[in-house]
Amino acid sequence: MAQKNIRHYLQFKDLTRDEYDYLLDRSRILKQKFKNYETYHPLHDRTLAMIFEKNSTRTRLSFEAGIHQLGGHAVFMSTRDTQLGRGEPIEDAAQVISRMTDIIMIRTFGQDILRRFADNSRVPVINGLTNENHPCQVLADIFTFYEQRGPIAGKTVAWVGDANNMLYTWIEAAHILGFKVKLSTPAGYALDPAMLDPDARDAYEVFADPREACDGADLVTTDVWTSMGFEQENEVRKKAFANWCVDAGMMARARPEALFMHCLPAHRGEEVSADVIDGPQSVVWDEAENRLHVQKALMEFLLLGRVSH
Ligand code: CP
Ligand code: NVA
Repeated sequence: MAQKNIRHYLQFKDLTRDEYDYLLDRSRILKQKFKNYETYHPLHDRTLAMIFEKNSTRTRLSFEAGIHQLGGHAVFMSTRDTQLGRGEPIEDAAQVISRMTDIIMIRTFGQDILRRFADNSRVPVINGLTNENHPCQVLADIFTFYEQRGPIAGKTVAWVGDANNMLYTWIEAAHILGFKVKLSTPAGYALDPAMLDPDARDAYEVFADPREACDGADLVTTDVWTSMGFEQENEVRKKAFANWCVDAGMMARARPEALFMHCLPAHRGEEVSADVIDGPQSVVWDEAENRLHVQKALMEFLLLGRVSH
């Protein structure tokens, strides 16, 4: 049974532009506290359940370290060693896990699974990646842009590669925060507009040539050619995506001050050349670190609302 007045974060559109303005500023404050070794425990005694049906390095670590730094505790659960891997209904798992914890993060396959879980949860649920969405990552990316270049409203983001969870989330974010996505995907791997809100369809433009998508961009970003869950397509995808590698030539078509981002893990020589990801325009390490700071701000917001200390 859905619980009233709980805020979940299942996709980017679950928060408003005004709430994102707050969260970006709050992330900056929490990052400063962390850098200053300031003890700050607003979530003292709170427990975060982290459920993983797919692998993770950054998401697991940033959520676990983040709740700890806020005074709380994390419990890691994976499909491999819980009853979820043996067919326990997701609705039943949500009922049980949400009675013992204060907040839950899940990484799973279909967005429908996440939604069914949230509909049966008594506590806030956060999307730690689904096939369709990766909102915590795009939030970290936008915070990284904001730190380096200021507000993203009015800017242009170039997406080169697969029409995956990251791309759909970038477009949703562009619609909410007022920027534009110029995207290019190989033939046969096009974006499906039906997966987007009709309103969000104005937030992007499609280019057949990935170099054209990069023209004048303030940020160039990409992701793996084969996302988790699609591994059996890997060899076919390698051929189809061969020209969708962000290289120095593509970066040269973006604005001179353009940033390069990648949510990681990356494959040098596939979706990005080594000289770009390891070059001066790349901010991938800040981007990865910022998962920690934005998710701390998000957990604090979902549990305590807006705070000012
Ligand atoms: N970017 C990201 O979500 O990384 P992990 O898969 O390591 O969590
Ligand atoms: N699109 C990638 C992101 C990994 C963090 C995937 O879903 O595997």
